[in-house]
Amino acid sequence: MLKIKSLIAEKIYEGVVDINPEAEISAQDIAGMLEYPPDATMGDLAFPCFKLSKTLRRSPVQIAATIAQELKAEAIASAEAVNGYLNIKISNEYLGENVLPEILQKGEKYGAPAIGEGKTVVLDYSSPNVAKPFHIGHLGTTVIGHALKKLHEFAGYKCVGINYLGDWGTQFGKLIVAYKLWGDKEQIEKGGIDKLVELYVRINNTIKGDEENGIPQRADLADQAREEFHKMEIGDEENIALWKWFVEISLEEYQKTYKQLGIEFDSYKGESFYTDKMPAQVEKLRESGLMKIDDGASIVDLDEYGMPPCLILKRDGSTLYPTRDIAAAVYRKEHYNFDKCIYVTSTQQILHFKQWFKVVELMGYDWYDELVHIPYGTVSLNGAKLATRTGNVVLLKDLFAAAIDKVKGIMAEKNPELAGNEEIAEAVGVGAIVFYYLTNNRIKDINFNLEDALSFDGNTGPYVQYTYARTCSILDKVGESYGGKIVISNDAEAALLKTLCQYEERVLSAIKDYEPSVITRFILDVAVAFNKFYHECSILNVDDNNVRGTRILLTEATRNVLGSAFSLICLKKTERI
Ligand code: ARG
Repeated sequence: MLKIKSLIAEKIYEGVVDINPEAEISAQDIAGMLEYPPDATMGDLAFPCFKLSKTLRRSPVQIAATIAQELKAEAIASAEAVNGYLNIKISNEYLGENVLPEILQKGEKYGAPAIGEGKTVVLDYSSPNVAKPFHIGHLGTTVIGHALKKLHEFAGYKCVGINYLGDWGTQFGKLIVAYKLWGDKEQIEKGGIDKLVELYVRINNTIKGDEENGIPQRADLADQAREEFHKMEIGDEENIALWKWFVEISLEEYQKTYKQLGIEFDSYKGESFYTDKMPAQVEKLRESGLMKIDDGASIVDLDEYGMPPCLILKRDGSTLYPTRDIAAAVYRKEHYNFDKCIYVTSTQQILHFKQWFKVVELMGYDWYDELVHIPYGTVSLNGAKLATRTGNVVLLKDLFAAAIDKVKGIMAEKNPELAGNEEIAEAVGVGAIVFYYLTNNRIKDINFNLEDALSFDGNTGPYVQYTYARTCSILDKVGESYGGKIVISNDAEAALLKTLCQYEERVLSAIKDYEPSVITRFILDVAVAFNKFYHECSILNVDDNNVRGTRILLTEATRNVLGSAFSLICLKKTERI
């Protein structure tokens, strides 16, 4: 639609200049002012003339009437002046002769805005804390992060996806103590991360004590944990070996989840990687006089900026989360020379990022404004049915397993032929969760409802995947494609094309606002438009060869655009469902 918008804007511009040759406005400004009317019967695009009232010193009604009279272009079927608006209908011929061939010809590249050429974006996302549960709260960072990566790649950026594993810190001291007390190598090898989490939960409960369950408090274990972590820091061989093993086990588990989502990272450099890169930054902070001692701890005072101080070193001299983030950002800038470095975390970390971004600025790094924090709301789950052994959190893998299980049930009922097809059940089950999650604006808190997410009738993943499968099965039946004349013969066909050709605009808006839900909603729009077309137009049983051929091409264009948009939001393409 961008192309159509700029064609129409050129023509409106001519009308504007006719009224006042000195009007201070460009065709490009006009293109940006074109709106989609709330009701399609009013037209496909609308131009609000009141915005020109001042420049042209006329009433919007007069402007609309004057421009409408002269507004003629190949793409325009009609232009009507209504209450100070110019309501424009796009011509079906134009859609058939220009838009449809362009979608088919560009194939995978269709809809890709060329804005990222020669630029690099680093994305820091997912980043679970090793040996702590990988839970439903990580869904947001994982899928929003990956969708943002895909979107940027689509726009031509070079992207580096980094999983900044929480692989260093006192939790490892605790885990080592717990392992030495109660651990069993074989059990952990078999049970994987679940066993580590069990140990972690147990040590925390023991340190705190749980009188109700007869566990006396053992605060001394906290000291032991600190001691074990300190040993790790100074390179104690036994502890380092244990730590490496814990990380390995956790990673293996995460990989399974990433595989289900079709996600791969370019780097797994976690917090531990930056241990030896922090002193230089701490030194820089000290030399510049930014760092102050406050009650023994080293801080950067941010009072002037309306924020609490950023903590750099604890009283015992050990480093903190912000310290590592600063060192990591400097390293990434040097290493990747990014144009943007994007961090995706929950809203709970907004202050953390504001603080250390400010510190980076104060340190004189002129790329501070290339750091972008993308927060998202919290996720909860309806009913506590998925609560796990590990306490009151819901593990991501358990959520996926539950969804896959339910899909298997639905498949057995609806399409017994495919029952037992693990691959499809996984694509639909996991896809349902991802899609449901990404339907909402990222900043909104979400309450998950598995039934809703898995419904085949609502605005869901299964519904759009089903639509995709429908296009595939139609095209399968056709065999050969069509190279004849294109004839758009009704509104449903035209409406489908008008939806498809909004793809690039939606991609741009998703990138601009860091908002994958824009794509999810676009996918729904396409699915709705296609299904309307499918129900109203017979595709294969039509006598007119040109009409039949055009409908086949429309189906092909839909399949291509849907498939492309699916990949932007981690949704797998299902040829059968
Ligand atoms: N590991 C952190 C957590 O689970 C998220 C890390 C986000 N990235 C960053 N560079 N701080 O809360």
